[in-house]
Amino acid sequence: MSEDDLPHVYRINRESFTTDAWLLEAFKREFGLPYSYKYVLEKENKIIGYLILWIIDKEATVMTFAIDKAYRGMGLGKYFFKEVMERLNNSIDRILLDVRKSNIKAIKLYKSLGFKILGERKKFYSDGEDALLMGKEMKCVEGKR
Ligand SMILES: CC(C)(COP(=O)(O)OP(=O)(O)OC[C@H]1O[C@@H](n2cnc3c(N)ncnc32)[C@H](O)[C@@H]1OP(=O)(O)O)[C@@H](O)C(=O)NCCC(=O)NCCS
Repeated sequence: MSEDDLPHVYRINRESFTTDAWLLEAFKREFGLPYSYKYVLEKENKIIGYLILWIIDKEATVMTFAIDKAYRGMGLGKYFFKEVMERLNNSIDRILLDVRKSNIKAIKLYKSLGFKILGERKKFYSDGEDALLMGKEMKCVEGKR
């Protein structure tokens, strides 16, 4: 992701989230953070998804992830998330994320990629909804993948 991609990323974020959508300033701030890793998914030269995560002490935390509404349900979100995990596999020990309890689609996607529910965060979102904390251990045994 480059700063030039931000109008597209911002639009996708706005159409994907309600009370927890990010301000444009928040996306801009990510470019100054050394622990922020930012990716976009392109199809036919169009940005159709993005993923931002932080990596601190070999632990990755997904900050925001979405696919353009027009391109959902085609396997692209799963493909993209998996691609990013594969790139990171040797450099991180585990990956964590928070997801709304009601976000069945996303929870199914994460479970299908091997994430487990680790706990619940009560009233995590500003509208009062609880979050599920999900995680996946990434460390692979040397020589075995
Ligand atoms: C969650 C999101 C990223 C999924 O992206 P997507 O491209 O639509 O997902 P995919 O088509 O790759 O589907 C991946 C898996 O999600 C689940 N899924 C997708 N659409 C679903 C639906 N309509 N109902 C139930 N499960 C669904 C399935 O498990 C699916 O795997 P399968 O096809 O092997 O069964 C997308 O819906 C999105 O951007 N939502 C709004 C933002 C958001 O919720 N982000 C995550 C915050 S934690």
